[in-house]
Amino acid sequence: MLAIIGGSGLTQLANLTVERREVVRTPYGEPSGPLTFGRLCGQPAVFIARHGYGHTIPPHEVNYCANLWGLKQAGATCIVSIASVGGIRADLSPGAIVIPHQIIDYTWGRKATFHEGGDAPVVHIDFTQPYDPELRHALLEAARDAGQAVVDGSVYAATQGPRLETAAEINRLERDGVDIVGMTGMPEAALARELELPYAALTVVANHAAGRGDSKQGIQFASLEDILRETMGRVRRIIEMICIDGK
Ligand code: HPA
Repeated sequence: MLAIIGGSGLTQLANLTVERREVVRTPYGEPSGPLTFGRLCGQPAVFIARHGYGHTIPPHEVNYCANLWGLKQAGATCIVSIASVGGIRADLSPGAIVIPHQIIDYTWGRKATFHEGGDAPVVHIDFTQPYDPELRHALLEAARDAGQAVVDGSVYAATQGPRLETAAEINRLERDGVDIVGMTGMPEAALARELELPYAALTVVANHAAGRGDSKQGIQFASLEDILRETMGRVRRIIEMICIDGK
């Protein structure tokens, strides 16, 4: 079953035929909200709003462990993350939809593994390719089928937030090889890998990152919401086309 984790601008999936909502509990506490079960284009699917349905949970306080565990427990077999980002690479302007292929983690203080505490043995997952190549491919095909242009590949930086970055921090990220910056990609991707759930992301560039393009003097929050509303409509069309047969 396909699981979708919706980010800012996508707290509901209009194209999900809702069958039921379920409040789930996990050994790690409560997920961000009830899971919504339904069908997407005839396929069973489950949806959760990462920041809660009322968008009240900031990135550093999201219970990523509970969200991933809850989805797995509910029968999810792969995870598509929807997230908004700032664009650093010059061609990644507001409104672009990007399917990243790499991650650099700048977050701190988040619970980033299931394998700690008690007598849990030490576990090191392979994370060379943080996004599942097959699921990325399915997203690229879905975008093509939906007639939506997407950017194939980019390096995603996960920053701690909730504040946005300084212009100097963005310059440093660029020197590190980063193309897009968001606040929720980690530890989500690593936790999915620990649970052996294929994971990929559809990211929406909501703004030029700090100090770039029209964010030279600051980030304009008013236009950010318009961009997200418009682009999430395109993301929904892509989601409708995701075909995960066998996964
Ligand atoms: N930085 C970090 N996270 C973001 C941004 C940004 O500029 N835009 C949307 N999410």
